Amino acid sequence: MVNAHRLAPEQLRSRYWFDNPDHPGTTALCIERFLNYGITLEELVGGKPIIGICQSGSDLTPCNRHHIELVQRVKEGIRASGGVPFEFPMHPIHENVRRPTAALDRNLAYLGIVEVLHGYPLDGVVLTTGCDKTTPAALMAAATVNIPAIVLSGGPMLNGWRGRERVGSGTIIWELRKRLAAGDIDYPEFLSRASDSAPSIGHCNTMGTASTMNAMAEVLGMSLPGSSVIPAPYKERAMVAYATGERIVDMVWEDLRPLDILTRPAFENAVVACSALGGSSNAPIHVNAIARHAGVELDNDDWQRLGHEIPLLANVMPAGAFLCEEFYRAGGVPAVLSELRDAGRLHTEVPTVSGHTLGETLEGVTIEDEEVIHRYADPLVAHAGFLNLKGNLFDSALMKTSVISRDFRKRFLSDPDDPEAFEGRVVVFDGSEDYHARIEDPALGVDARTILVMRGAGPVGHPGGAEVVNMQPPAALIKQGIESLPCLGDGRQSGTSGSPSILNASPEAATGGGLALLEDGDQLRVDLRKGLVQLLIDSAELDARRARLASQGGYRYPGHQTPWQEIQRTLVEPLDRGMTLAPATNYRDVARRHTPR
Ligand code: FES
Ligand code: MG
Repeated sequence: MVNAHRLAPEQLRSRYWFDNPDHPGTTALCIERFLNYGITLEELVGGKPIIGICQSGSDLTPCNRHHIELVQRVKEGIRASGGVPFEFPMHPIHENVRRPTAALDRNLAYLGIVEVLHGYPLDGVVLTTGCDKTTPAALMAAATVNIPAIVLSGGPMLNGWRGRERVGSGTIIWELRKRLAAGDIDYPEFLSRASDSAPSIGHCNTMGTASTMNAMAEVLGMSLPGSSVIPAPYKERAMVAYATGERIVDMVWEDLRPLDILTRPAFENAVVACSALGGSSNAPIHVNAIARHAGVELDNDDWQRLGHEIPLLANVMPAGAFLCEEFYRAGGVPAVLSELRDAGRLHTEVPTVSGHTLGETLEGVTIEDEEVIHRYADPLVAHAGFLNLKGNLFDSALMKTSVISRDFRKRFLSDPDDPEAFEGRVVVFDGSEDYHARIEDPALGVDARTILVMRGAGPVGHPGGAEVVNMQPPAALIKQGIESLPCLGDGRQSGTSGSPSILNASPEAATGGGLALLEDGDQLRVDLRKGLVQLLIDSAELDARRARLASQGGYRYPGHQTPWQEIQRTLVEPLDRGMTLAPATNYRDVARRHTPR
């Protein structure tokens, strides 16, 4: 057991609002308006924990929409444990639809949740999550406010199928785009095949950012063991919703808080597990952000040092062949963790929301299907974690090595003298519109040795940071069978993409990063063994380009479209530091340190 201590009813945080005879006027004002929809005085002042339910589902967030029904089971669990549920909305975040990018919403939703958790009479909170950024937004806020909190994933969709072939969310889109460009399929067929990937309620059924971040919540100890990948329509999903509601009330009495759980060892577990899961290239951004809000030092060097040598165990798209429904049936996250534990790669003494240590929750767990979850001794890929690349253009950029395909290796990593290095000539694009406008232009001279570079796509250049670095080669090359080229950029890429791009280059071009100095035709050398990406140019020429750019007022990027874009741009930190809002990371434990006035 994690915490034997028990809170007395008069210590409940909600008493400050609901039971304060020294201030009868304000107390009455707090109470009376809740009575008008039928809540009784006994419920509000009877010493019951008041539990918030942060509702991330809405008609604008289809990946999370079923939480609208699911929270009924959460509420029943809260009631059964003697708590009183209060549901409130999270700012909507829908990865696929939000323009210019859903990444703008992560920090906006974070701020909203922080203000609600701090400013309302809540003793604990259930955080409903699903689509990519809903999970980090919720966890970042939980760390900042630090009232007892538990994450409830909505779960992935069922498997998508076309005939006997699995169709994975997002991953199929990247495939079909190539087929469309090569003229193999027409637009109606493209749409029909794409829709196969969304057969039910739930979030992406691949190990994209949504499934990865919900798995990260579980590994960190912030959701009930085994809960993150239960498919959304399964009965076990509603059962775990009920159990989550029951458990949060106990957590309030135990005074078990996020900062007791979100410790450095827990984050090290997350890094290790992410490699074994073949997790999203967005995970380091979000996990680093949660760590920063929890006051834990974690950076991309940690991701390489702790994570790179970990093997890929989960055979789930985009790095593998199956989907989350099968992953769940094979044992899900606990089965992967049990392998990592047996290999001595896990901190098992860390607490979890379950009230048990991580090690205790893994007792008796086994892999149910060794095709879907591989043994540590028989992995899909030996060293599957991220490489943190550096060089004369940036301080940090990530490469997801679990998705380096055999074809990519043969074409780019086949130099007998140095099989982990390649050189190529760059073609540079300034944002995705520039790429779409020019990629088919034969004058660019894109060939099989070209490195495609995307800049102006970081959190400042493209407000929030665009998922555009996995660029497709021109149609003429695809028709010749060259389906991918090395890509490099200061933006992100979708977690459902299997492209081994060099991503998240920090600092970005828009804030003085070296990608702004690149010109078409420059030679780049990428050396994975040394972790280096070097522009092959003498430093005098690089200095001259830097001076020229400065005299032109620096790298140009589009203006703000909304107030939040401007506010975020002035405060946001680089991708390697989690894209957090700089002043926000100074606030921690605000529920205890800053009493509402
Ligand atoms: Fe929402 Fe993938 S688009 S989970
Ligand atoms: Mg995405």
